[in-house]
Formats: sequence, C-alpha cells, structure tokens
Amino acid sequence: MSEKVLITGINGFVGKHLTDYLLDNNYEVAGFDIKDNIENKIISEDIKIYTGDLRDEQEITTVIKNFNPNLIFHLAAQSSVKLSFENPAETISINLIGSLNVLEAISKLQTPAKNSFDNFIGDLWST
Ligand SMILES: NC(=O)c1ccc[n+]([C@@H]2O[C@H](COP(=O)([O-])OP(=O)(O)OC[C@H]3O[C@@H](n4cnc5c(N)ncnc54)[C@H](O)[C@@H]3O)[C@@H](O)[C@H]2O)c1
Repeated sequence: MSEKVLITGINGFVGKHLTDYLLDNNYEVAGFDIKDNIENKIISEDIKIYTGDLRDEQEITTVIKNFNPNLIFHLAAQSSVKLSFENPAETISINLIGSLNVLEAISKLQTPAKNSFDNFIGDLWST
C-alpha cells in the first residue's frame, strides 16, 4: 500500500514540483491550500485537494484527521519578503500561527504522521 502524503501549500511553486515527484514515485497525494485555483497544476484525479485557511486550526485538524497521512510537507506560507514588510501581522499569522496549527493538529491526532514527528523531535533533542 502506498504511503499517504499531505502537502500544505500544494498550489504554490514548490508544491507543484513536489506533487509531480511524489506521484511519479507512487505516493498517494492530498493537498491543502487557501487557493482553490489549480489551473496551472498537473492535477491527477488521484489527488484530493482540500481548500482551507491554515490560520483556522480546526480546518487543518479536520483535513489531517480525515486524510490520515503518513507524511506531511508543510509548504503553505506567505512566502513573499516584500509582502512580509508590507503586512507583517498577516505574515506572522500565516507563517507562525499557521505552522503552530499544523504541529498542534499532528500532536493531538493519532495519525501515522505523528510517529514521524515524534521521531524527528526525538532526533533533534538527541543531537
Ligand atoms: N520557492 C523557493 O525557492 C523556496 C526556497 C526556500 C524556501 N521556500 C519556502 O518553501 C515554502 C513554499 O514556497 P513556495 O515558493 O512554494 O511558496 P508559494 O508562495 O508559491 O506557495 C505558498 C502556498 O501557500 C498557500 N497559502 C498561503 N497562505 C495560506 C493559508 N493561510 N492557508 C493555506 N494555504 C496558504 C498559497 O496559496 C500558496 O499556494 C515557503 O515557506 C517558502 O518560504 C521556498
């Protein structure tokens, strides 16, 4: 059975290339993004796209709970340096609180991704 991978920010620059790579390597892919515009992506019918805002902890928690991924690539972000200076509060909200929401969701759920996360944190502390 193929591993299930959730990509936050799947509609972004990195998410597109990562999606292609994962599909080529037989992963089951789902994506979470605030944009539902997927026109510039090679989207296979195998990909499940969840539309939502990372700043809403309940939304990302529900997606992780329903899809139950083995791996999560967290790419959703306000990635523009220019915009970060123009809208610092929004940038902090998306990049910090949004990332915290992903971590909180993983830590609360008994999803396979939690094991990877626990191992990762364990490795960090042991170095
Ligand atoms: N592109 C690069 O060369 C590069 C290099 C180093 C690091 N990174 C980092 O990798 C990550 C992804 O980069 P990218 O170039 O794909 O960025 P991108 O801006 O192209 O994509 C970000 C995606 O996140 C989504 N998003 C933004 N706010 C959201 C929210 N509140 N809820 C849900 N989705 C939201 C956007 O709709 C977009 O699809 C970023 O953290 C970036 O800083 C990128």
